[in-house]
Amino acid sequence: MRYRSQSVAYWYFAVAMCLFGLQLVFGLLSASKYLGPDPLLDFLPFDKTKAIHTNLLIVWVLTGFMGATYYVVPEESRGEIYSIKLAYAQLVAWTLMGVTAIVGYMFGWTAGNKMLEQPFPLKIVIVVVMLMFLFNILMTIKRAGRWTVTEGVLVAGLVLAAVLYLPALIEYDNYTVSIFYRWWTIHLWVEGVWEMIQGGLLAYLLIRLSGADREVMEKWLYVIVGLVFLAGILGTAHHYYWVGVPYYWLPIGGLFSALEPLALLGMAMYAYFAMRRSGLSHPNSLAVHWTIGSAVFTVFGAGLLGFAHTWPSVNKWTHGTLVTAMHGHGAFYGAYAMIVMAIISYTLPSLTENRKVEGNNIGYWAFWMQVMGMFGMTLSFGTAGIGQVYLERILGLGYLDTQLKLQVHFLMLIATASVFAIGAAFFIWDFFRNAPKSISDSRISEFGPVIDSNNGGLLYQKR
Ligand code: HEM
Ligand code: HEM
Ligand SMILES: [Fe+2]
Repeated sequence: MRYRSQSVAYWYFAVAMCLFGLQLVFGLLSASKYLGPDPLLDFLPFDKTKAIHTNLLIVWVLTGFMGATYYVVPEESRGEIYSIKLAYAQLVAWTLMGVTAIVGYMFGWTAGNKMLEQPFPLKIVIVVVMLMFLFNILMTIKRAGRWTVTEGVLVAGLVLAAVLYLPALIEYDNYTVSIFYRWWTIHLWVEGVWEMIQGGLLAYLLIRLSGADREVMEKWLYVIVGLVFLAGILGTAHHYYWVGVPYYWLPIGGLFSALEPLALLGMAMYAYFAMRRSGLSHPNSLAVHWTIGSAVFTVFGAGLLGFAHTWPSVNKWTHGTLVTAMHGHGAFYGAYAMIVMAIISYTLPSLTENRKVEGNNIGYWAFWMQVMGMFGMTLSFGTAGIGQVYLERILGLGYLDTQLKLQVHFLMLIATASVFAIGAAFFIWDFFRNAPKSISDSRISEFGPVIDSNNGGLLYQKR
């Protein structure tokens, strides 16, 4: 850490970790309801636990992105954050909004639009928080008078993510129209602008962890972002197959969304070639695991498992089944949960006291248990989904009769999710066990930044 204000990131990561833990509680609760009986049916039925599970996911990942940005931008632009107070005020408002939303869902206060369930007043708070955040970040860059492509892609992704939230503010009576615009937010987030955020963070981490040449890395970042947009924008139509819009969306959605994995494959190759040159020599090999892990798991969860049901002829059968949940977990985890854990693992030695740069055993257990657990979860959802498609949509069994025959897959889901949850608990414990550095001016001068090789990466050394 080179700038005092970067320490704001710690508190964003701390909030993100608490919400991550809570997200898993609601995930396990949702999964156990498939096995029944459900003693919480009256107060917390499945629709509420699932909405809380997915909303917590979105909020903690965004909190992680914001923390990451507060860490990355000062370093890339070479200047302190414009207003530390504003950054803390923003975190407080954001956290209060998140907690209010969760409590509200428990009592049925919801806008009902999947993943955009936030009631209108809370949506306004979200917009205000995003404006505070972007103002602070853009002023930081303006004051420093310098920006890099890496942070440019990251910040552009965040600005566009805020802009794409705007369609979610409008409510429509017509269900088809409502669904049509819902994907402008959800799809264009996860298969468009959030990938810019992932790409920017990936570039930041790879430049520092692999010692790869910044110019080369940033040139390829442009190519990847270009590919994301080329396929991702019209790829939105893979959600328009059965929602009541004209037929021509079928070939458009099939063709363009099938091209989307190319960008993700490009991202993984980008990471692989960068690391191969350096021979994994960076001391923070835990951060290397999470960084490469994110790129590789994205190809699996988003690229492969997304591709598996993106053709209209397949999606006709699998739409809205547990096959969707299979892909949703693999993709969200690989692309966004893992990249946040990568940046946390990279920054934690400089944000907390007495932490070894190379990490420790528990950190590696956290990584491998999560990866194996999530892999098992996608298999469980996938096999359940295939059974569901066959029994319900081909043989014509009723929904509940089908569910009764899928119980074994849910046992598998709970078993593998438990492995995942233990891995996550290790990560969260490892996060909190070192106190944050309270950095005063004297400490900053005690810890001198050392420019690392040819790329401006910083290592921390005592003078
Ligand atoms: C303890 C671990 C977890 C368990 C037991 C769990 C369980 C579940 C269950 C039962 C659902 C509802 C599926 C349905 O609609 O039938 C769900 C939905 C979802 N979960 Fe999880 N989950 C866990 C962790 C995660 C993680 C770590 C992520 C992402 C990083 C995630 C992302 C999602 C998403 C995106 C959905 C919505 C999927 C859809 O729209 O169909 N979950 N989860
Ligand atoms: C990081 C990238 C991605 C993430 C986080 C992600 C996440 C998700 C989530 C959460 C859903 C469920 C949405 C809902 O029903 O509300 C979904 C649906 C879907 N995704 Fe992705 N996805 C990603 C990339 C991809 C890619 C690259 C493809 C295709 C190659 C793809 C194909 C699909 C399809 C076809 C559906 C609709 C499933 C249905 O009809 O029920 N996704 N995705
Ligand atoms: Fe999509």
